[in-house]
Parts: sequence; C-alpha cells; structure tokens
Amino acid sequence: MLTFRHENRQERAVVRPGITVSYAQTLDGRLATSDGNSRWISGPDSLRFAHALRAEHDAIVVGAGTACTDDPSLTVRHVPGDDPLRVVVDSTLRTPLTAAVLADGAAKGTVLAVTESAPEDRCEDALSLGATVLRLPQNPEGRVDLASLMKRLQGFGVRSVMVEGGAALITALLRDRLVDRLAVCVAPKILGCGIEAVGDLGICDLTDSLALADTTVTPYGADTVFDSRVVYPNGI
Ligand SMILES: NC(=O)c1ccc[n+]([C@@H]2O[C@H](COP(=O)([O-])OP(=O)(O)OC[C@H]3O[C@@H](n4cnc5c(N)ncnc54)[C@H](OP(=O)(O)O)[C@@H]3O)[C@@H](O)[C@H]2O)c1
Repeated sequence: MLTFRHENRQERAVVRPGITVSYAQTLDGRLATSDGNSRWISGPDSLRFAHALRAEHDAIVVGAGTACTDDPSLTVRHVPGDDPLRVVVDSTLRTPLTAAVLADGAAKGTVLAVTESAPEDRCEDALSLGATVLRLPQNPEGRVDLASLMKRLQGFGVRSVMVEGGAALITALLRDRLVDRLAVCVAPKILGCGIEAVGDLGICDLTDSLALADTTVTPYGADTVFDSRVVYPNGI
C-alpha cells in the first residue's frame, strides 16, 4: 500500500483516495505520436516500474481514448502482484465490448464510469459481461465528473488510485487539483509533433505553476523516472 506524503492526508483520505498519475513521455514532453502511437516510448526496465506501481494501487484508471487506442489489459504482469480494480472513464461508453478490459472474463474486475449520455443498451451489454457501470454526474464539459468518480471509488473501499493516461485525463485531473503524486518516466527520445502529455491548465503566470516536491530521480535502463508530490499554488 502506498504511503502518501501529503500534509493533510488524514483529512483528504476520508473524501477520496490518494491519486497517482503516471505516464511515459519523450524528453520533449510527448505521450504519443500525432497519430496516437505510444508503444513503446519507454523501455523494459521502466515498464517493470510501471507494473510495480500498478500492484501498489487499489485501482488503475484510464480514459476512453486510451482504452480505444491502446486497448490495454491494465493487469500486473511484469512483476509479482495482484491486479488492481480497472476503471475506464468513458462518458458515452464508447469502449468496445471486445476491449481487453472487458473480454475473456476481465469485465468482472472492471468499472465503466459513464454519464447519462451512455446509451442504456450499451450499459446493459457491459453489465451482462460482468462489468460494473457507474452512472456519474457530468462536469461542465459534459464529461464524467472526476471528483464524483473518486468519491464513489472510495465508497468501494479503494484507497489509492493510479491514473495511466491519456493526455485528456491527465490534464483534467491536474486542472481539477486531484493529483497527489506524479510519476513520470522520461525516455531519451525526441518526437517533435505528437500528443502532449499535459495540455492547457489555464496557467498564464509562472507563480501559478504546479510545483513538484520531494522528488526522487531514478534511472531505469535508458529512462529516468521523476517521482514527486504535487503542490498546488495557494493550496495543498
Ligand atoms: N505514454 C503513455 O504513458 C501513455 C499512457 C496512456 C495513453 N497514452 C496515449 O494517449 C493517447 C490517448 O489520450 P487521449 O487524450 O486521446 O485520451 P484519454 O485521456 O485516454 O481519454 C480521454 C477521454 O476520456 C473521456 N473522459 C470522460 N470524462 C473525462 C474527463 N472528466 N476528463 C477527461 N476525459 C474524460 C473522454 O471521452 P468521452 O467524451 O467519450 O467520455 C475523453 O475524450 C493515446 O495515443 C495513447 O496511446 C500514452
């Protein structure tokens, strides 16, 4: 179980789980190529780190874009450990029922976080596979309200959540100040154009930057992992 180095973790822990965001990026901050290919930005050593991080958390969350583009299994394979609960944040339930997180019995360990926009028949199909479908309030953009999702996961006994991407979900969580820990694997590669890891946070002044504290820097093969606590301006 993760220990969150967070000043007011006692207060926060009753409201929502601790949230770690983790992803691999190129040295120039790209999560994937322009056409969405991210396999494999990082090397095998840091992949083991990512799987160890999965095993440390109660739940692992990805956005619908990642579920559709990468079709990840979200299981622990490269190190010993239990699979966390799998969660896909998917307002309209566009993830195919044949996706790895739903197929071959995997659905029983998968939560689909949707809004009222998700068609009833899609939800029924996912339920019939054994998935849990959570209908959640939507945010002003018509997407899943992430704070509500985290509260519901807390209600399931989930105390720690790892978010693996993609870019839209990472950006939304940082914008909503929901990220406690950021573990970024930087690969010594340059992509130029591509999908940026973190999009617009509405920050126009350097004093409003998110700060990273207590950073550990660890080499994994050719890659380097920066693992930090996130500090928000004028807040926690
Ligand atoms: N390098 C890495 O470590 C890594 C890791 C993961 C992914 N990736 C790459 O990232 C790319 C996918 O990123 P992406 O930005 O397209 O997709 P994403 O962040 O995985 O998913 C975004 C989608 O999630 C849904 N969503 C629901 N509620 C949301 C909310 N409150 N905030 C944000 N999203 C919400 C939205 O779809 P609806 O509106 O349909 O609900 C949204 O379009 C792929 O190319 C993948 O390969 C790279």
